[in-house]
Amino acid sequence: MSETAKLTLDGKEYELPIIESSVGDKGIDISGLRAETGYITADSGYGNTGSCQSKITFIDGEKGILRYRGYPIEEIAKNSSFIEAAYLVIFGKLCTQEERDDFAKLLEQNAALPQPMLKHFDGYGSDGQPMAILSAMVNSLTAYDPSVMHPKDESDVTYAAANLMSSVRTIAAASYKASIGEPIMPPRYDMKYVENFLHMMFSKPYHEYVPEPEVAVALNMFLALHADHEQNCSTSTVRMVASSQANMYASCAAGITALWGPLHGGANVAVVQMLQEIQEEGLDPEKFMDLVKDKKSGRKLMGFGHRVYKNFDPRAKILKGACFDMLEKLNVSDPLLDVALKLEEVALKDDYFVERKLYPNVDFYSGIILRAIGIPLDMFTVMFAIGRMPGWIANWKEVHDDPKARIYRPRQIYTGEVERHWVPRSERS
Ligand code: CMC
Repeated sequence: MSETAKLTLDGKEYELPIIESSVGDKGIDISGLRAETGYITADSGYGNTGSCQSKITFIDGEKGILRYRGYPIEEIAKNSSFIEAAYLVIFGKLCTQEERDDFAKLLEQNAALPQPMLKHFDGYGSDGQPMAILSAMVNSLTAYDPSVMHPKDESDVTYAAANLMSSVRTIAAASYKASIGEPIMPPRYDMKYVENFLHMMFSKPYHEYVPEPEVAVALNMFLALHADHEQNCSTSTVRMVASSQANMYASCAAGITALWGPLHGGANVAVVQMLQEIQEEGLDPEKFMDLVKDKKSGRKLMGFGHRVYKNFDPRAKILKGACFDMLEKLNVSDPLLDVALKLEEVALKDDYFVERKLYPNVDFYSGIILRAIGIPLDMFTVMFAIGRMPGWIANWKEVHDDPKARIYRPRQIYTGEVERHWVPRSERS
């Protein structure tokens, strides 16, 4: 007999089925709760809600474990290019050489944006927010690929996935070029994904940028570490939009806007702004800590804390090591790394952070790597979005492929006025 949970309500007992997991949290199936009891569940911020069953990414927040499709993030960071990690996340398996070549061919075919789409960039001012441009342009891709509206078979979905992965990189680099008033550089067909991105970002007519190999390695790792992260805010947004059967590009464009906020992907910008403030104003890290502990200040230690990790975010550990490696290999120093190290040291000894189990998250060290590569601050969250695209696509695909998928439609507990009657404007006080 399978396990059930028992619930007593108004003196009556109900049995709720258990949903098994392969590893980690099991679920209590409450889908029949309202019909049977008249009650719904309340879970502000969805901290205890399993919104779906998924086979993509596993996190154990207590132990600091992250796996894509069962493979530990540490092994992926060490061995995988971004595209290999993306293939794994989207298609659920490590690619063979042939699959890798086929996917690379699709990426290559879609690297250049449709010619008319390039005109859009002229319409944004030089201070246009890159995340706004990115989400709008990703949405616009739908207009140039009508088959994405009603994909007929798996090959349409694979094509759309490759188009999105490839185009998001080209859009990101083009929006940067447009924002600094330089000509948009077309992609090159002899370059790999990351090298091609760096070329489109930093080459100029008659001046080819050739990245140091360490830079390409570090950027591949940065992107692979961001490739998926279970049901976070942006991924849940993608699934929410996908559940209405919206197309892949529109769903992922919604993910980009959700990522933008400073509590989510925007934190990688906020961390560097915080480190700069401390460094430039010569603030004492211990005093800064008093500020972030004071709830009235409205400040937080950006890059610290996580809804799921109550231990080190494994990505932060990898990125911290990579910061040292990269700065050493490029023979550069970054004073912000020293500030970050000091803040971490102070925080990890402080009762406030210890009691609340607040540790560095992925955004705490990632900005140091992006700065060393030469990525401007206002492009940091765009870099996160390029990295997260495989996860959004995989989650969109999981919703799309599920024959039992239903539109996402949570309920609410209404706390407003019960009933009022219309008062003509002349009689209102
Ligand atoms: N600095 C100071 N206090 C904090 C911090 C922080 N970074 N994070 C959490 N707390 C406190 C919070 O004030 C609360 O205190 P109390 O119990 O006294 O009310 C307690 O810790 C629990 O925090 P919470 O806000 O209830 O936790 P949450 O799960 O709702 O939020 C979070 C998670 C990531 C939004 C939050 O930790 C935070 O705002 N961190 C800073 C922003 C950040 O680095 N975001 C990136 C997250 S990782 C990458 C991503 O998702 O994109």
